[in-house]
Amino acid sequence: MPAEPLLFTPLQLRSVILPNRVVLSPLCMYSARDGLAGAFHLSHLSAFARGRVGLVFTEATAVEPRGRISHGCCGLWNDAQAEAYAPIARYISALGSVPAIQIAHAGRKGSARPPWDGGLPLQASDAAGASPPWQTVGPSAEPVGPGWPAPQALTEAEIGEVIEAFAAAARRAANAGFRVLEVHAAHGYLLHSFLSPLSNRRNDRYGGEIGGRMRLLLEVVEAVRAAWPRELPLFCRISSVDGPAEGWRIEDSVVLARELAMRGVDVVDCSAGGVAGPPAYRASDTGQALESRSERGPGFQVPYAERIRRETGVKTMAVGVIVDGRQAEAILQDGRADLVALGRELMYDPFWALHAAEALGADPERKLWPDNYGWAIARRAEIKQQNAPRPT
Ligand SMILES: Cc1cc2nc3c(=O)[nH]c(=O)nc-3n(C[C@H](O)[C@H](O)[C@H](O)COP(=O)(O)O)c2cc1C
Repeated sequence: MPAEPLLFTPLQLRSVILPNRVVLSPLCMYSARDGLAGAFHLSHLSAFARGRVGLVFTEATAVEPRGRISHGCCGLWNDAQAEAYAPIARYISALGSVPAIQIAHAGRKGSARPPWDGGLPLQASDAAGASPPWQTVGPSAEPVGPGWPAPQALTEAEIGEVIEAFAAAARRAANAGFRVLEVHAAHGYLLHSFLSPLSNRRNDRYGGEIGGRMRLLLEVVEAVRAAWPRELPLFCRISSVDGPAEGWRIEDSVVLARELAMRGVDVVDCSAGGVAGPPAYRASDTGQALESRSERGPGFQVPYAERIRRETGVKTMAVGVIVDGRQAEAILQDGRADLVALGRELMYDPFWALHAAEALGADPERKLWPDNYGWAIARRAEIKQQNAPRPT
């Protein structure tokens, strides 16, 4: 490993300098009321900033009420929600990390229970518990899968309203103090469901061949880019592949990445799956759908980030079972991605970045640790060494 690991080398995107290349992947927490972030979100997200994650993403934040996955999802369809996010963005910045937000529309995967309640669609009986189901929307009246209600197919006029809702959310995100914005176009939610031939059966301008299926996302990105400050970076998360051969393919993602870059997207965040479909493709614990658990080996989605980066020259973010500092460093060193995002590993260890820095020799004097922790952690190391069993 070089003296200065790439993982802990800053990266400039437009006017924003990320202090390192470790990213908290967006993580739905299903813990908001009326779409408002609160004390939980402040303590949850700031933990990662304290742990020196360079770029800290909020969870998928809905651009309109019916675009939530569950009643507990955060939203950005009114100014009160932006005001609730503002102290969180400010505090993440104060800790030295860059606050980022993912804006989303759940589409036909909305109106669901949180995963710890099964993640299935809300039923009429949930109304008694004050969690009534709502009418979801999608490209076509095709349900996600067996047991899911049919969404209402959006009209062209309604599509225009969704585009405006994304732009309005982008304006509020800037007002709230976020400095990176990501459009969520993955995991079978609304924008992905328009991209995929498995879910988009339209025969108007927003369906048919790839150009029609990409139209909604590209119009959203144009509107968001116009609403989001020019000096701030824009990311787009895509499902690089659907899984089934007749679905969205990596070749399509290469075409899409070029179109996104032309419209001012700075980083393509390369996830996969989630559109559901045939019974073999079931919703997984991450809201994605993949053929089998055995496919999810370490870095299983990195090849998508690598191929898109190589074939388009667009910056990419790799995500998915990145667990170890050396693995993350190798992804960057080998030029397979520009950023690495972690979800579950950071939930397990919010100080993962500091531990990775130690393992990579990037922080011999523990300067990365916050001052009020660093001196005590150094003392802890001395005591550990003193107490280590001596060779006999
Ligand atoms: C609890 C949980 C919530 C998630 N919520 C989101 C989300 O809001 N938006 C999103 O794009 N992906 C979401 N994901 C997917 C993660 O961002 C990430 O892509 C996935 O977990 C793979 O990375 P990992 O193996 O490091 O966890 C979620 C995953 C988990 C485990």
